[in-house]
Amino acid sequence: MARTIVIAGNWKLNLSVEEGVALAGALAKEAGNDREIVVFPTALSVYPAVQAAAGSKVEVGVQNAYWEVSGAYTGELSPELAKAAGAKWVLIGHSERRQYFGETNETCNQRVQATLRAGLKPMLCIGETLEERESGRLDEILRGQITGGLANLSADDLADLVIAYEPVWAIGTGVVATEEQAQDAHALSRGIVRDLLGDAFADSVRILYGGSVKPDNAAGLLGQEDIDGALVGGASLKADVFSGIINS
Ligand code: PGA
Repeated sequence: MARTIVIAGNWKLNLSVEEGVALAGALAKEAGNDREIVVFPTALSVYPAVQAAAGSKVEVGVQNAYWEVSGAYTGELSPELAKAAGAKWVLIGHSERRQYFGETNETCNQRVQATLRAGLKPMLCIGETLEERESGRLDEILRGQITGGLANLSADDLADLVIAYEPVWAIGTGVVATEEQAQDAHALSRGIVRDLLGDAFADSVRILYGGSVKPDNAAGLLGQEDIDGALVGGASLKADVFSGIINS
């Protein structure tokens, strides 16, 4: 089944509003092929990035969102507020949030549910540490992240879901997974999705690879059967470099 490629840029804690607007504007001008393009700026830059990309195919998302709609939750933002600012996506469960901010499969599930409640598209990140991989726990970890993150939701509920497989040992390290390692983990993830939500859903859900994706390794990764796009950190911060991945 043909699955449209998604190329997403996770800006993390980088780029001022001015820099983010310039980057979103540059990508909006360039994004000329049939791939879906998404950027995840800092929360400060979401609204101006939406304005800068208006009329183009570049969509904007938030890097995280809380599950309450509004109220006394200092420092948080909700999917509803993100939507009102023009965001279309919520990134959920990035390994940096799991590692530094106490994100669990349960809280990821609450965020997925809140994202769907607001009518936004969830991008759920999964991935194992090197220690987990080397101790033979890859299946167990991915199964827990997928099953836990998508608990209590049906295939219909999850029609807009995108999964991003990002081995923690490949993020920001320059150590990209080999095409074979990535394909194997993607096939494993798709199989877990199949067990949970059935064939039709598993065949249509997009699973992106993330972790040291660069213009020179993107084509090989995207050529793998079960790799449907890329979630890019460092190489998404410069328009020409990110465009090299978009057009790879
Ligand atoms: P990287 O980050 O491309 O800099 O490795 C990927 C990510 O964290 O999404």
